[in-house]
Amino acid sequence: MESSQLRSKFLAFFEARGHTIVPSASLVPAQDPTLLFTNAGMVPFKDVFLGQEQRSYNRATSAQRCLRVSGKHNDLEEVGPSPQHHTFFEMLGNFSFGDYFKEGAIEFAWEFLTKELGLPADALHPTVYEEDDDSAKIWSRVKGMPADKVVRLGAEDNFWAMGDTGPCGPNSEIIYDRAGACLNDGSNCSLTCNCGRWWELWNLVFMQFDRGPDGTLTPLAKPGVDTGLGLERLSAIMQGVSSTYETDLFTPIFEEIASITGITYEEASEEQRTAMRILADHSRAAAFLIADGIRPSNEGRGYVLRRLLRRAIYYARTRLIGNIEYLDRLVRKVGGAMSDAYPELQREAAFLIAVVEDEEQGFVETLGRGRAAVAGLAQFARHLHQFLKDVAQKQQYRFDWASSRRSLASLFSSSDLPEPVKAPFLRPYEELLGQEPWNASLDSLQRAVSLEPTLTGETAFLLWDTFGVPPELTAEVAADNGLAVDMAGFDRALEEQRERGRGARELGQEQEEALLAATRDLPATQFVGYDALAADATVLALFGPEGRSSTVAEGEEIELVLDTSPFYAEAGGQVGDAGCIVGPDGEVEVATVQRIGHGVFVHRGQVTRGRIAEGEQVSAELDEASRRATMRNHTATHLLHRALRVVLGSQAKQAGSLVAPDRFRFDFLHNKPLTDDEMREAERIVREQIVLDQPVSVDVMPMQEAVALGADAMFDEKYGEDVRVVSVGEDEPFSRELCGGTHCRATGEIGAFFIVDQRSVGAGLRRIEAVTGLGAFDWIDARRQVVDELSHEYNVPLAELPDRLRALSASGGRARERSQSALPDPAELIARADERNGTLLIVDWVDAVDATTLRDFGDDLRQRAKSAAVVLGSVLDEKLNVIVMLTPDLVDGGMHAGKIAQQIGKAMGAGGGGRADVATAGGDPLSKEAFLDRTRPLVPTPS
Ligand code: SER
Repeated sequence: MESSQLRSKFLAFFEARGHTIVPSASLVPAQDPTLLFTNAGMVPFKDVFLGQEQRSYNRATSAQRCLRVSGKHNDLEEVGPSPQHHTFFEMLGNFSFGDYFKEGAIEFAWEFLTKELGLPADALHPTVYEEDDDSAKIWSRVKGMPADKVVRLGAEDNFWAMGDTGPCGPNSEIIYDRAGACLNDGSNCSLTCNCGRWWELWNLVFMQFDRGPDGTLTPLAKPGVDTGLGLERLSAIMQGVSSTYETDLFTPIFEEIASITGITYEEASEEQRTAMRILADHSRAAAFLIADGIRPSNEGRGYVLRRLLRRAIYYARTRLIGNIEYLDRLVRKVGGAMSDAYPELQREAAFLIAVVEDEEQGFVETLGRGRAAVAGLAQFARHLHQFLKDVAQKQQYRFDWASSRRSLASLFSSSDLPEPVKAPFLRPYEELLGQEPWNASLDSLQRAVSLEPTLTGETAFLLWDTFGVPPELTAEVAADNGLAVDMAGFDRALEEQRERGRGARELGQEQEEALLAATRDLPATQFVGYDALAADATVLALFGPEGRSSTVAEGEEIELVLDTSPFYAEAGGQVGDAGCIVGPDGEVEVATVQRIGHGVFVHRGQVTRGRIAEGEQVSAELDEASRRATMRNHTATHLLHRALRVVLGSQAKQAGSLVAPDRFRFDFLHNKPLTDDEMREAERIVREQIVLDQPVSVDVMPMQEAVALGADAMFDEKYGEDVRVVSVGEDEPFSRELCGGTHCRATGEIGAFFIVDQRSVGAGLRRIEAVTGLGAFDWIDARRQVVDELSHEYNVPLAELPDRLRALSASGGRARERSQSALPDPAELIARADERNGTLLIVDWVDAVDATTLRDFGDDLRQRAKSAAVVLGSVLDEKLNVIVMLTPDLVDGGMHAGKIAQQIGKAMGAGGGGRADVATAGGDPLSKEAFLDRTRPLVPTPS
């Protein structure tokens, strides 16, 4: 039976038993700070279990996409070595919210497995929580179930929790016996044996408690049921294969890997299979994460995606075939294999592929750079070591300090390695030899020789952290080059970084969770700010610097919860409102408002006068001007969204926004800069809607209805069953979006609209910033002032300014030409150059030219001389410019213009560097003679 049939069969079975089919929610849990990813089928129903959200049904069923890569449920390390673990998987589930309980759950599960699917009862073994007599009794009543078959286990196995906090309860698992005997030694093992014989197939959780941040279990008002049956495992059993990776969910991906590498999963070695499983699993996870709006980045969810992609690429390139890009093809396959249930993966394939391609290319470059860095470091270590050995072996009286000093100095400063990589490597040597190693004692030189050339843990960590070079790769390349790696030091550095991250994360999260816990018992705030800008309210709770307080006094920061509020709480990109709250004895200036948990608004600000006390009647008034500006920007965001899709195509979907009073920014899916024409056209469409003064209307309707009307929705927003739909225009609205924000009554209020900036904010993602209303007039006024000033200053009519400026810059070009005509004759410079081993050393001076002219002149010289090192200096405007150029034969011979320029720059009191063939340096002004004196010794003799 195909996986897609199993999925439908499951949903249909429960639908026929009174359950509402609920579509899979996003992998990104909406507005839940306690969870990075949806890690179980119950996550979208968390608030329903907690009694904080009501739905129109009390029985539901779903096939939920899940990811287990962080927090309490994390299977990342198992994926690869294990033939059954996945980061991404689908969980089939049925749920009861205060409806049926243990008996119903157990009966449904048993009926589905044994009757609907026809699995043999003998192979199915129930477990229950050790204290759960009820479940044990229910199981023993099942027809043909021997009483001793029901196994009781402890909390480790049979008490389930979503995370460290939230709904939880005892569970009963149905374990499937796939072999009939122990897979290790053929004996009769028990359910807890890890030989691979027993598969946890279906988990029935009896949700009874809400676990608080301090671990206390509060009984739920209405206990419920949450079950989870892994689609991958069920498919493996129904398809008679011994691993989830052998099901039809994965075979198309392995076929693609075989067509890329020529290696089939069946014939692959265990090491290759590990890599293949990682590729297949991570491609699935990546495809869904990207489709759910995540982009690779260096933090949070984006970092998880980046780690998955990099892990897959690394394994593919080191265990299968290097120099091949895999992920784009695999991601396309994932879309095909899942197209039944997730047609959007195929619809958005081009975009998903663009994101992974970008990341893959970036990482492959990173890998190359990292390998080169390790190899360079190893080479450097060998030189250094040999040099120290040579010096230390010499007798002190015969020791040529002058030449050693130069060599050592150049060894320490040379090499292309970036400073952060080189520094920790050199540190042990510097500790022994001091800051001026050439002045070190013989004794410390000898001790430095005995240091084993080792990459410190810190270096290995830096390579990993900044270049993304995995430590195993560092160790491998280092070993090839005779270098040891301090892996224990690497582990320490990694742990330290984790600690640092944990500290910061936990603090932020702790504060948020503490506030969540403190407001848990407060009712959701009644929002009246769609229509009103002020409202009378009662203070329900106050938080001052010491936490919850009954009063907060003047000058103190305050967080305040009211029963009713006209303030908009930050959501859907729109910022929270600012304003003031006036009580009988004081006043609070509100900077922003945030919505937490089940809908409690927390007003943040400062007591600016008197004091505020719990229970007081207050008047809450928001800052009308800034709220109206925000509304103009919000309505304009909807207009721009639509306009971009008209201009660029329907794939240019919104991917985030920030709507503030002074401006708005809008992120959307598009993989190249907008042309001027496209920008102008988008602006024109928005402005047309503004002058048409289209009415803006709001309707509340069931989600399905909104979807049927074609309303646009955002991936990380939490939508209830009923949604708010904002439409611009009547009859055939110009725009229709799901939105909880505040809007103008008609588009004319927007007044004016200008795009002020566009840029890329990640692979396939662009951002536009725009201004509206009074802000737009300010923006245009500032520009008008600039051109007015120019026109006035140069006494040129506005329309003639561009021509006039062009003429000015052309005369600048002519000045350059004049300076070029004063250049010396190249033949003269060639004639007076030194010649060494058939190579010209042209170290010379040109009077008063700029860097570009100097460079062109140097290039001319280089072309005239077949083999030459060209170093030219010139002082113009109190600045020394130096160029260093080498003919290709010298570069091939190992000379490096960048390094020479670096030395020269240092000697001239500034810096220098560049490519191997062309480089530049700067410095303080000096005479021609001083320049030549100081530079000549720094140009090495070509061999
Ligand atoms: N929430 C439980 C689990 O994830 C059952 O769905 O195992």
